[in-house]
This record gives sequence, C-alpha cells and structure tokens, in this order.
Amino acid sequence: MHEPLTFPTSTDRETRYAALLPQAKALLGEETDPIAAMANLSAAIHEAFGWHWVGFYRVVGCELVLGPFQGPVACSRIAFGQGVCGAAWEQARTMLVGDVDAFPGHIACSPLSRSEIVVPIKDASGTVVAVLDIDSSELNTFSTVDSEGLGALCAMLEPLF
Ligand code: SME
Repeated sequence: MHEPLTFPTSTDRETRYAALLPQAKALLGEETDPIAAMANLSAAIHEAFGWHWVGFYRVVGCELVLGPFQGPVACSRIAFGQGVCGAAWEQARTMLVGDVDAFPGHIACSPLSRSEIVVPIKDASGTVVAVLDIDSSELNTFSTVDSEGLGALCAMLEPLF
C-alpha cells in the first residue's frame, strides 16, 4: 500500500506543487508502465487541486485516445490539431486557455469546463506521445505557475515512453 498523500492547508498554488512533486516522485517510484503511472498521477493532481477534470490522452496513430483520468466521462478520441488537446499535440507546446469559449475549435466534453491547460509529454526523441489535460469549472484558473508545476510532473512520465 502506498502512503496517503498529504498537503499543506495553504491553497497557494506554488506551495501545493512543492508538496506534490516529491510525493508524486515517490508514488511513481520504479513503475515502468505508462498507463499505471498516468493513472496514479491523474489521481494525485486531482487530489491536490480538486480541478473538474484531470486526465491524459495518448497519441495512438493519427489520434489522441483517452487514457487514465479523474472526473466526469469525456470524449474518447481527438484528431490531430483539433481542440485544445490536438493543438498542444500539433504545436508541441503547453496551451493555457483562460476562457474555453474564446478558443476556436474547443471541444466541450463537459458543459462545466470554463478554462483549461494542456501539457504535452514527449519521448526521448522529442516526439509528443501523450498530453495531460486539465479542465477547471472557473475562468482563468491556470498560469505559468501551473505550466511549470505540471511540466515538472509530466517530465517524470517521459522516460516511460
Ligand atoms: N476540451 C478538450 C477536450 C478534452 S476534455 O476537456 C476532457 C479539447 O478541447 O481538446
């Protein structure tokens, strides 16, 4: 059994990432299976921040296919370049969307999603192999603090691909 995660009472985002990072590292441990690692990492991020939807899509052929997640049911396949996830894959960069209604082509898996961040995960050759997608039910939830914190968490997965 893994120890339960613990977090400071502070809701300060940087403080929470600082608490989450070493615990996520310990949680992933020696795990070599990317699905198992994504499953626990999505649960840990969800537990730390309580966002509406936290999950992964894997690149499978010419689509993103739904992977482990926490939250309401979601779209299972997303084409290259489509939506925020497909754009992050195509452009191989983190997408910060303060208002999903202002993002052309946003795919509304849940009517409650108001802002979103998508972080690409790359293999050793720099090819995008998956994305981490997080939806918030509030506008303008995410900032560069999140792209840095989530980028550090996603970097833990990269050796598994
Ligand atoms: N909103 C995403 C689709 C995935 S869900 O939010 C879980 C997008 O536009 O790519």
